[in-house]
Amino acid sequence: MTSFPQDDAVAHASPAALRALIESRRAVRRFTDEAVPEAVIRDCLELAVLAPNSCNLQPWSFQVIRDPALLARLHPVCMSQNAAKAPVIIAVLARPDTWRQACQNIVDYWPEPEVPARIRSFYAKTAPFQYNQGPLGLFGLLKRQLVRLAALRKPLMRTPNSRAQMRIWAVKSTALAAENLMLAFQSHGYATCPMEGFDEVRLRKVLDIPRQALPIMLLAVGRQGEKGVYNPRLRFPLEQQVTWL
Ligand SMILES: Cc1cc2nc3c(=O)[nH]c(=O)nc-3n(C[C@H](O)[C@H](O)[C@H](O)COP(=O)(O)O)c2cc1C
Repeated sequence: MTSFPQDDAVAHASPAALRALIESRRAVRRFTDEAVPEAVIRDCLELAVLAPNSCNLQPWSFQVIRDPALLARLHPVCMSQNAAKAPVIIAVLARPDTWRQACQNIVDYWPEPEVPARIRSFYAKTAPFQYNQGPLGLFGLLKRQLVRLAALRKPLMRTPNSRAQMRIWAVKSTALAAENLMLAFQSHGYATCPMEGFDEVRLRKVLDIPRQALPIMLLAVGRQGEKGVYNPRLRFPLEQQVTWL
């Protein structure tokens, strides 16, 4: 079995440092005009894409908007909310449509000289079977029926076997990347506000978003401005939300 250096040297962030970082992130709605350096944005995007993701197919993409003219057009699309006046907005897109290219990418970018046979086989056969829903989702429909029968005998994964399930599939991983992105900016001293308050139809026109991509949130980024946080932090008691079994 191949061993990896990280097996022996698992990096431990101190729990206190991680807690401090997570606790310091708030949704910030007012920013200063200060630009966010490209190096910082790149560093944060690199950390975003280290998020765990389904089958490592990395079903996300990002549009970094810094052009003042484009930002000005985005503001009304975001219902003119304050957060959308940030100096940078990153459109976080879930990509249920990129899995085929991603299967090829796994082989092309494999970080060892030889791609293991099990990896080749998984991304040439298993993954395409799992993620291909066929024209009009008809292959997905067929798979749903097959899985229903086969699962009478043994436990089987039942999704994603439709186009709707593919969207959920992509959104799960992309949301994790979005959280990484926010925490990464926070670690650099930049505040963020995730926004789903936008007109998706107009957004698609302004940003030229691929038809099957899902803009799951727009991330406003910048230095926190005066009175940037509107409310005190509020979370419900864990007891309401956690079941210990
Ligand atoms: C998916 C998503 C969409 C959101 N959309 C908006 C938005 O459009 N405008 C806004 O001001 N805040 C938005 N927020 C921020 C939330 O209101 C905020 O995270 C929540 O109130 C908790 O506050 P906190 O992040 O400061 O802990 C959004 C957050 C998420 C995760």
